[in-house]
Amino acid sequence: VGSHFFKGKKILITAGPTFEPLDPVRFIGNHSSGKMGYALARRAAALGAQVTLVSGPTNLELTHPNIVVKKVTTAQQMLQETLLYYDEMDIAIASAAVADYRPETVSEEKIKKSEENLTISLVKNPDILKTWGERKKKQFLVGFALETTEEMHNAKVKLEKKNLDLIVLNSLKDSGAGFQHDTNKVTLITRTAVAEFSLKSKSEVAADIFDFIESHYIP
Ligand code: PMT
Repeated sequence: VGSHFFKGKKILITAGPTFEPLDPVRFIGNHSSGKMGYALARRAAALGAQVTLVSGPTNLELTHPNIVVKKVTTAQQMLQETLLYYDEMDIAIASAAVADYRPETVSEEKIKKSEENLTISLVKNPDILKTWGERKKKQFLVGFALETTEEMHNAKVKLEKKNLDLIVLNSLKDSGAGFQHDTNKVTLITRTAVAEFSLKSKSEVAADIFDFIESHYIP
Protein backbone atom coordinates (compact mmCIF):
# COMPACT_ATOMS: atom_id res chain seq x y z
CA VAL A 1 0.00 0.00 0.00
CA GLY A 2 1.12 3.55 -0.96
CA SER A 3 2.77 5.38 1.96
CA HIS A 4 5.91 4.21 3.80
CA PHE A 5 4.94 5.92 7.02
CA PHE A 6 4.03 2.75 8.95
CA LYS A 7 6.84 0.59 7.55
CA GLY A 8 8.63 -1.10 10.48
CA LYS A 9 6.54 0.70 13.10
CA LYS A 10 5.55 -1.50 16.05
CA ILE A 11 1.81 -1.55 16.60
CA LEU A 12 -0.09 -3.21 19.45
CA ILE A 13 -3.79 -3.92 18.94
CA THR A 14 -6.39 -5.43 21.29
CA ALA A 15 -9.45 -7.07 19.75
CA GLY A 16 -12.55 -9.06 20.61
CA PRO A 17 -14.38 -9.52 23.89
CA THR A 18 -13.09 -10.76 27.21
CA PHE A 19 -14.80 -13.66 28.96
CA GLU A 20 -14.92 -13.57 32.75
CA PRO A 21 -15.58 -17.03 34.21
CA LEU A 22 -18.20 -17.74 36.87
CA ASP A 23 -17.62 -21.48 37.08
CA PRO A 24 -16.23 -24.16 34.72
CA VAL A 25 -19.32 -23.82 32.52
CA ARG A 26 -20.29 -20.14 32.43
CA PHE A 27 -18.83 -16.71 31.86
CA ILE A 28 -19.78 -13.04 31.55
CA GLY A 29 -18.98 -11.74 28.08
CA ASN A 30 -20.22 -9.39 25.36
CA HIS A 31 -21.11 -9.32 21.67
CA SER A 32 -17.71 -8.34 20.24
CA SER A 33 -16.72 -10.55 17.28
CA GLY A 34 -13.19 -9.18 16.90
CA LYS A 35 -13.86 -8.06 13.31
CA MET A 36 -12.89 -4.41 13.91
CA GLY A 37 -9.61 -5.22 15.65
CA TYR A 38 -8.60 -7.91 13.15
CA ALA A 39 -9.34 -5.48 10.28
CA LEU A 40 -7.01 -2.97 11.95
CA ALA A 41 -4.30 -5.62 12.30
CA ARG A 42 -4.64 -6.63 8.64
CA ARG A 43 -4.43 -3.04 7.45
CA ALA A 44 -1.43 -2.24 9.66
CA ALA A 45 0.39 -5.31 8.35
CA ALA A 46 -0.41 -4.37 4.74
CA LEU A 47 1.13 -0.96 5.47
CA GLY A 48 4.36 -2.69 6.54
CA ALA A 49 3.99 -2.39 10.32
CA GLN A 50 5.03 -5.10 12.81
CA VAL A 51 1.77 -5.99 14.53
CA THR A 52 1.11 -7.67 17.87
CA LEU A 53 -2.58 -8.55 18.09
CA VAL A 54 -3.81 -9.49 21.57
CA SER A 55 -7.21 -11.05 21.07
CA GLY A 56 -9.98 -12.24 23.34
CA PRO A 57 -12.02 -15.30 22.32
CA THR A 58 -13.19 -14.99 18.68
CA ASN A 59 -13.86 -17.28 15.74
CA LEU A 60 -11.43 -15.36 13.56
CA GLU A 61 -8.11 -16.59 12.20
CA LEU A 62 -5.28 -14.41 11.02
CA THR A 63 -1.96 -15.50 9.59
CA HIS A 64 0.37 -12.89 8.18
CA PRO A 65 4.17 -12.68 8.37
CA ASN A 66 3.91 -9.22 10.00
CA ILE A 67 1.34 -10.22 12.64
CA VAL A 68 1.86 -12.09 15.91
CA VAL A 69 -1.45 -13.17 17.43
CA LYS A 70 -1.70 -13.73 21.19
CA LYS A 71 -4.95 -15.25 22.42
CA VAL A 72 -6.26 -14.48 25.90
CA THR A 73 -9.57 -14.97 27.72
CA THR A 74 -9.98 -12.50 30.59
CA ALA A 75 -9.33 -8.77 31.05
CA GLN A 76 -6.56 -9.48 33.56
CA GLN A 77 -4.82 -11.79 31.07
CA MET A 78 -5.25 -9.21 28.31
CA LEU A 79 -3.63 -6.52 30.48
CA GLN A 80 -0.70 -8.77 31.47
CA GLU A 81 -0.13 -9.87 27.87
CA THR A 82 -0.16 -6.33 26.45
CA LEU A 83 2.26 -5.08 29.14
CA LEU A 84 4.86 -7.57 27.85
CA TYR A 85 5.03 -5.55 24.61
CA TYR A 86 3.67 -2.09 25.37
CA ASP A 87 6.89 -0.24 26.27
CA GLU A 88 8.53 -0.90 22.91
CA MET A 89 5.47 0.00 20.81
CA ASP A 90 5.15 3.08 18.56
CA ILE A 91 1.37 2.91 18.35
CA ALA A 92 -1.15 1.10 20.57
CA ILE A 93 -4.81 0.68 19.65
CA ALA A 94 -7.49 -0.63 22.03
CA SER A 95 -10.43 -1.98 20.03
CA ALA A 96 -11.29 -4.80 22.44
CA ALA A 97 -14.57 -4.76 24.34
CA VAL A 98 -13.12 -5.46 27.77
CA ALA A 99 -15.48 -6.51 30.56
CA ASP A 100 -15.47 -3.72 33.14
CA TYR A 101 -16.34 -6.20 35.94
CA ARG A 102 -15.64 -9.84 36.70
CA PRO A 103 -17.22 -12.25 39.19
CA GLU A 104 -15.58 -11.82 42.59
CA THR A 105 -15.09 -15.55 42.97
CA VAL A 106 -14.85 -18.32 40.38
CA SER A 107 -16.55 -21.49 41.56
CA GLU A 108 -14.46 -24.61 41.08
CA GLU A 109 -17.57 -26.68 40.53
CA LYS A 110 -20.60 -25.95 38.38
CA ILE A 111 -22.97 -23.64 40.28
CA LYS A 112 -26.09 -25.69 41.04
CA LYS A 113 -29.61 -24.55 40.31
CA SER A 114 -31.37 -24.12 43.66
CA GLU A 115 -32.99 -20.88 44.85
CA GLU A 116 -35.33 -18.74 42.73
CA ASN A 117 -32.75 -15.92 42.64
CA LEU A 118 -29.00 -16.05 42.34
CA THR A 119 -26.88 -13.02 43.20
CA ILE A 120 -23.41 -12.69 41.72
CA SER A 121 -20.95 -10.26 43.22
CA LEU A 122 -18.76 -8.45 40.68
CA VAL A 123 -15.47 -6.61 41.16
CA LYS A 124 -13.86 -4.04 38.89
CA ASN A 125 -11.45 -5.19 36.20
CA PRO A 126 -8.29 -3.24 35.39
CA ASP A 127 -8.70 -0.63 32.66
CA ILE A 128 -6.11 -1.74 30.09
CA LEU A 129 -6.17 1.43 28.01
CA LYS A 130 -6.00 3.69 31.08
CA THR A 131 -2.98 1.70 32.30
CA TRP A 132 -1.31 2.24 28.91
CA GLY A 133 -2.11 5.97 29.16
CA GLU A 134 -0.42 6.20 32.57
CA ARG A 135 2.72 4.46 31.20
CA LYS A 136 2.78 6.41 27.95
CA LYS A 137 6.17 7.59 26.68
CA LYS A 138 6.52 7.65 22.90
CA GLN A 139 3.34 5.71 22.10
CA PHE A 140 0.61 7.21 19.93
CA LEU A 141 -2.43 5.94 21.82
CA VAL A 142 -5.73 5.15 20.15
CA GLY A 143 -8.88 4.17 22.04
CA PHE A 144 -12.40 3.30 20.98
CA ALA A 145 -15.59 4.58 22.57
CA LEU A 146 -18.71 2.48 22.24
CA GLU A 147 -21.59 4.69 23.28
CA THR A 148 -25.37 4.71 23.34
CA THR A 149 -26.04 8.27 24.63
CA GLU A 150 -24.19 11.62 24.73
CA GLU A 151 -21.72 10.03 22.38
CA MET A 152 -19.45 13.00 21.58
CA HIS A 153 -19.23 14.17 25.19
CA ASN A 154 -18.46 10.70 26.56
CA ALA A 155 -15.82 10.07 23.88
CA LYS A 156 -14.05 13.36 24.69
CA VAL A 157 -14.05 12.51 28.39
CA LYS A 158 -12.40 9.13 27.61
CA LEU A 159 -9.81 10.85 25.37
CA GLU A 160 -8.73 13.00 28.35
CA LYS A 161 -9.13 10.49 31.20
CA LYS A 162 -7.13 7.77 29.44
CA ASN A 163 -4.47 10.15 28.08
CA LEU A 164 -5.15 9.26 24.44
CA ASP A 165 -4.05 10.89 21.19
CA LEU A 166 -7.09 9.71 19.25
CA ILE A 167 -10.45 8.19 20.08
CA VAL A 168 -12.64 6.32 17.60
CA LEU A 169 -16.29 6.85 18.44
CA ASN A 170 -18.87 4.32 17.31
CA SER A 171 -22.48 4.46 18.41
CA LEU A 172 -24.93 1.61 18.82
CA LYS A 173 -27.59 4.14 17.73
CA ASP A 174 -26.24 3.97 14.15
CA SER A 175 -27.56 0.93 12.28
CA GLY A 176 -24.80 -1.23 10.84
CA ALA A 177 -22.30 0.09 13.39
CA GLY A 178 -20.58 -1.61 16.32
CA PHE A 179 -20.70 -5.29 17.32
CA GLN A 180 -20.75 -8.18 14.84
CA HIS A 181 -21.49 -6.22 11.65
CA ASP A 182 -19.04 -6.22 8.74
CA THR A 183 -19.53 -2.46 8.67
CA ASN A 184 -18.97 0.40 11.08
CA LYS A 185 -19.61 4.14 11.25
CA VAL A 186 -17.00 6.13 13.15
CA THR A 187 -16.08 9.64 14.21
CA LEU A 188 -12.37 10.25 14.84
CA ILE A 189 -11.62 12.72 17.62
CA THR A 190 -8.36 14.31 18.77
CA ARG A 191 -7.93 17.36 21.03
CA THR A 192 -7.94 19.60 17.95
CA ALA A 193 -9.78 17.76 15.19
CA VAL A 194 -13.02 15.88 14.56
CA ALA A 195 -13.69 13.84 11.41
CA GLU A 196 -16.97 12.05 10.75
CA PHE A 197 -17.11 9.14 8.33
CA SER A 198 -20.00 7.35 6.60
CA LEU A 199 -20.98 3.69 7.08
CA LYS A 200 -18.22 1.55 5.51
CA SER A 201 -16.78 -1.94 5.67
CA LYS A 202 -14.58 -2.49 8.73
CA SER A 203 -11.55 -2.86 6.43
CA GLU A 204 -12.27 0.58 4.91
CA VAL A 205 -12.77 2.00 8.41
CA ALA A 206 -9.37 0.55 9.37
CA ALA A 207 -7.80 2.26 6.34
CA ASP A 208 -9.40 5.60 7.33
CA ILE A 209 -8.07 5.24 10.88
CA PHE A 210 -4.47 4.66 9.71
CA ASP A 211 -4.71 7.55 7.18
CA PHE A 212 -5.89 9.74 10.04
CA ILE A 213 -3.12 8.56 12.38
CA GLU A 214 -0.52 9.33 9.71
CA SER A 215 -1.77 12.90 9.30
CA HIS A 216 -2.10 13.54 13.06
CA TYR A 217 0.97 11.67 14.32
CA ILE A 218 2.94 13.32 17.08
CA PRO A 219 5.71 10.94 18.21
O1 PMT B 1 -15.49 -6.82 17.61
P1 PMT B 1 -16.58 -6.27 16.70
O2 PMT B 1 -17.80 -7.16 16.69
O3 PMT B 1 -16.07 -5.96 15.31
O4 PMT B 1 -17.09 -4.89 17.33
C1 PMT B 1 -16.23 -3.77 17.37
C2 PMT B 1 -16.39 -2.96 18.67
C3 PMT B 1 -17.79 -2.38 18.73
C4 PMT B 1 -16.13 -3.87 19.88
C5 PMT B 1 -15.32 -1.84 18.60
O5 PMT B 1 -15.54 -1.02 17.48
C6 PMT B 1 -15.34 -0.96 19.87
O6 PMT B 1 -16.07 -0.01 20.00
N1 PMT B 1 -14.47 -1.34 20.85
C7 PMT B 1 -14.45 -0.72 22.19
C8 PMT B 1 -15.56 -1.28 23.02
C9 PMT B 1 -15.57 -0.72 24.43
O7 PMT B 1 -15.38 -1.47 25.34
O8 PMT B 1 -15.70 0.58 24.53
P2 PMT B 1 -15.72 1.42 25.92
O9 PMT B 1 -16.25 2.77 25.54
O10 PMT B 1 -16.44 0.67 26.99
O11 PMT B 1 -14.20 1.51 26.33
C10 PMT B 1 -13.37 2.63 26.02
C11 PMT B 1 -11.98 2.17 25.66
O12 PMT B 1 -11.30 1.64 26.80
C12 PMT B 1 -11.89 1.12 24.56
O13 PMT B 1 -10.77 1.42 23.74
C13 PMT B 1 -11.65 -0.18 25.34
O14 PMT B 1 -10.88 -1.12 24.59
C14 PMT B 1 -10.85 0.33 26.54
N2 PMT B 1 -11.04 -0.45 27.80
C15 PMT B 1 -12.25 -0.43 28.44
C16 PMT B 1 -12.40 -1.09 29.63
C17 PMT B 1 -11.29 -1.79 30.18
N3 PMT B 1 -11.41 -2.45 31.33
N4 PMT B 1 -10.12 -1.80 29.53
C18 PMT B 1 -9.97 -1.15 28.35
O15 PMT B 1 -8.88 -1.16 27.74
